Amino acid sequence: MATDPRTATNPISRFPAGFLWGVSTSAHQIEGAADKREPSVWDAFTAEPGRVKDGSTAEVACDHYHRYREDVALLAGLGVDAYRFSISWPRVNSPDGLDFYDRLVDELCAAGVRPVPTLFHWDLPVGLDWLERDTASRFADHVSLVADRLGDRVKKWITLNEPAEHTLLGHALGAHAPGRQLLFDALPAAHHQLLAHGRAVQALRAAGAADIGIANSHGPAWPASREPADVEAAEFYDLLLNRLFSDPVLLGEYPQGIGELMPGDVSADLKVIGEPVDFYGVNYYAPTRVGAPQGEEIEFGGLTLPAELPFTVREIEGRPVTDFGWPVVPEGLTELLTGFRDRFGDRLPPIVITENGCSYPGIDDQDRIAYLDGHIRALHDAVEAGVDVRGYFVWSLLDNFEWAEGYERRFGLVHVDFETLERTPKASYGWFRDVLRAQR
Ligand code: BGC
Repeated sequence: MATDPRTATNPISRFPAGFLWGVSTSAHQIEGAADKREPSVWDAFTAEPGRVKDGSTAEVACDHYHRYREDVALLAGLGVDAYRFSISWPRVNSPDGLDFYDRLVDELCAAGVRPVPTLFHWDLPVGLDWLERDTASRFADHVSLVADRLGDRVKKWITLNEPAEHTLLGHALGAHAPGRQLLFDALPAAHHQLLAHGRAVQALRAAGAADIGIANSHGPAWPASREPADVEAAEFYDLLLNRLFSDPVLLGEYPQGIGELMPGDVSADLKVIGEPVDFYGVNYYAPTRVGAPQGEEIEFGGLTLPAELPFTVREIEGRPVTDFGWPVVPEGLTELLTGFRDRFGDRLPPIVITENGCSYPGIDDQDRIAYLDGHIRALHDAVEAGVDVRGYFVWSLLDNFEWAEGYERRFGLVHVDFETLERTPKASYGWFRDVLRAQR
């Protein structure tokens, strides 16, 4: 197995004792077995021609539903402490749907890998809608059901994955399911997901859970220049993609000017949304360089950003980029986390990096090794700077169904041949296994 020469000469520093090392996946992206679950908004979306770049669907995906034992063996071979996966609400709604997660959790426990389920990772059952307030209550009922069944073995829970992306891509821009292009009228979908998070925390507490968090996506917003118009645009972007989701959870309030855009009087809801959490999950991929609007539509990172947006996204120059075109900026992670510490102070619970990773082709994936190496070192810098970080999860264990990109973007430590479904550990799998061994 290939070893990164830098780690041989300059090993990654030790993280604090008890630090949780893991990998992440999500149900819709890997499970397949679509015939054994109710349809989700993603099934409906992928059925519409032109929505997914390669025209593929997640009907089979990695067939993890049938091959979960093999995948748990891969986790055990990697030596991770924990596995973050998601529980498909549409599968739980179908007969015997929870049995699958029961088996998976048993298998993980037997392998000595801690199960860390996310209760919503974008695959909403068809018929439900985040524009409707009632969806938050329905979610809490679903969470109670899951917690009653798995709570004897699952100790660490994540309520939602990235409500920011789900709102932006799914409801504002229409690039993801459910495919709406509402721009700022999408904001109620964000509020109802945040309310669902708060209600889920309450439901989990009622079921006896004591280790609960959310996985929010964050990244620094860098102004394209020092010109006031660029600085203002970057501040607005930061508010919309970062603070709109961190502030209500951590401070129980919306950033100034945002609460007024939400449906009705949200003050009582904010008390629920601000229910204390035990850890704060951060998904980090890259910073964004933001400039003043230019009055025209732009293409960026596979997205079409309409001219009406009050900002544009510009290229970060002089950096390597991943296969997705995302810049590789490890120190953005240190900046993000020290910024969180400064901004939230003692309101910030311990942080867990719930996702970090990159898309590159190939099995001898030296680029992925360099990406992960750089980001783990940048994370250590944040720890040294006094940020309380308790865990790091690589996105992702397996190559998978990368949403509107289909199967062309490969984020896995393990290669999946989507014809035969054969799994082949990549060079990065061996590298990460060695990093974990050295940490112990
Ligand atoms: C999502 C994952 C996705 C990954 C890479 C995150 O935003 O949580 O589902 O596969 O990014 O795009």
